Amino acid sequence: MDLAARYGDWALIAGGSEGVGESLARQLAAAGMNLVLLARKPGPLEALAADIRQATGREVRTASVDLSRPDALAQARKLTDDVAIGVLVFMAGAGHRVEDFHAVPLDEWMTTVGCNVHGQTAFAHHYGEAMKRRGKGAIMLVGSMAGLAGSAKLAVYSAAKAYSATLAEALWYELKPHGVDVLALTLSATKTPAMARMGLDMDHPDFPAADPDDVAAEALAHLADGPVWYASGNAGRAAYVRGLPRRDAVTEMSQGTASISHKD
Ligand SMILES: NC(=O)c1ccc[n+]([C@@H]2O[C@H](COP(=O)([O-])OP(=O)(O)OC[C@H]3O[C@@H](n4cnc5c(N)ncnc54)[C@H](OP(=O)(O)O)[C@@H]3O)[C@@H](O)[C@H]2O)c1
Repeated sequence: MDLAARYGDWALIAGGSEGVGESLARQLAAAGMNLVLLARKPGPLEALAADIRQATGREVRTASVDLSRPDALAQARKLTDDVAIGVLVFMAGAGHRVEDFHAVPLDEWMTTVGCNVHGQTAFAHHYGEAMKRRGKGAIMLVGSMAGLAGSAKLAVYSAAKAYSATLAEALWYELKPHGVDVLALTLSATKTPAMARMGLDMDHPDFPAADPDDVAAEALAHLADGPVWYASGNAGRAAYVRGLPRRDAVTEMSQGTASISHKD
């Protein structure tokens, strides 16, 4: 698919400096799109932008923005109000801890809600409205297999990812007649810097982690195949979990989480 021809030539990646966000940025630029990249750490963001400008000649705008904060959309708009964003990817959202709900201060959990619930809603509302008006565009909201059922030690994360997936599904149906593709991109374990920092076992035999470049390529290839795309061949696993009695689904999800978190 010619992404720029179908959606327009600007993409915004909220969480576009590392991991799958970085891979998507490189691939979208190679496909002829200019980029707006947001993330917190300015270092990786600037390095990636310079690299992409040099490799592709595309325009790349960046801003250090905390997407869990209420002013994130206003910050993003400073870079995007003069261009038509044709592809919105909301990638950021793994900033969670693998920990009991009551072992972590509320403020920390609220950053997960801030990104995955408030952030995704606000960005999809603003950029989706403009796409609807133009009659073309694509929105990718990134979720997780952890959103298929509540998981102990990931209570807020799994709940937030369920919200993200349900939001994307509803928007897929609403926006389809207006020429806007919406995808709930559901990831499973993927080798990203954030996962490594969290100390998750990315080489667990039962949960082999995917390569970010492969996940990004798959996501772009299936951007128009919403409402949901389970990356890395996990559609069967998702159907299995969805088919379980909820008690079994929650138990299995919680045990899976426990098995990939490093024990001291
Ligand atoms: N990796 C996995 O195994 C896995 C599995 C299932 C689902 N997912 C989902 O896939 C997405 C990407 O995950 P990831 O592992 O790459 O980790 P991530 O922590 O979501 O980081 C992805 C990108 O977002 C940025 N980011 C994170 N939090 C941010 C914030 N509050 N404000 C602004 N930018 C922020 C990061 O840069 P900065 O840190 O510099 O801000 C980075 O560029 C997430 O939505 C995650 O839930 C990942």
